[in-house]
Amino acid sequence: MTNLIIFGPPGSGKGTQAVKLSTSFGLVHLSTGDILRQAIANRTPLGEKAKAYIDKGELVPDEDVAQMVVNAVDRNTDAGGFIFDGFPRNVFQAEFLDRTLKERGTSIHYLIALEVPREELIKRLLKRAEIENRTDDNLQVIENRIKVYYDQTIPVIDHYKKQGKYYPVNGLGTIEEVNRRIGDIINKK
Ligand code: C5P
Ligand code: MG
Repeated sequence: MTNLIIFGPPGSGKGTQAVKLSTSFGLVHLSTGDILRQAIANRTPLGEKAKAYIDKGELVPDEDVAQMVVNAVDRNTDAGGFIFDGFPRNVFQAEFLDRTLKERGTSIHYLIALEVPREELIKRLLKRAEIENRTDDNLQVIENRIKVYYDQTIPVIDHYKKQGKYYPVNGLGTIEEVNRRIGDIINKK
C-alpha cells in the first residue's frame, strides 16, 4: 500500500496533481474539500455547518473532517492506497490520520509539499474564480485561506519531517513538469 499526502497552500495545484497521480499509481483520491463542497451542494447537515467556515476561509472543526476521512477510508478497504488532498490541515489532524492508518495496519509514506510563491497563488486562484465559481475564490477569502495555511497547516511539515517523510517539490511550471517531479520521488523509493 502507498499512502501519500499532497500538501501545499491553496492554489498550489494539489487537486490537479492528485487526479493525475491517482490514475498513474492506482490510488484513491480523497479530497476533503471536494467532499465538503458536495455536502454543501446536497444540503446535508455537515454541509450546512461547513458552509459558514468555507465561505470565510476558516477550517471546518477537526471532529467533522476527521469523521469524514475515516468514513472515506473505510469505504475503500480494497484500495491500493490513498492520496490525501486537503487533509491534514493542522497537527491534530496529522496525529489523527497517523493513528487511523496505524489501526488499519498502514501509514503515510510521503508528504509531497508543493512550493509556490504567494503572488503566484493569488494569481492562480483569481483565475480559477472566473472558471470554477467557488464561493471562496475571492481576494478577501483567498488571503485568509493563505493566512490559515501559514498559521495552522505549515506545522504539519515538521510533523512528517521528523518521520523522514517530507518531500518538497517545486510547484512552478507546467502541470506535466510538476507531475514528473512527483512521479520521480515515488518511483525512486
Ligand atoms: O482543500 P480545499 O482548498 O478545497 O478546501 C477548501 C476549504 O474547505 C478550506 O478553505 C476550508 O474552509 C475547508 N476545508 C477544511 N478542512 C479540510 C479541507 C477543507 O476546513 N480538511
Ligand atoms: Mg483542492
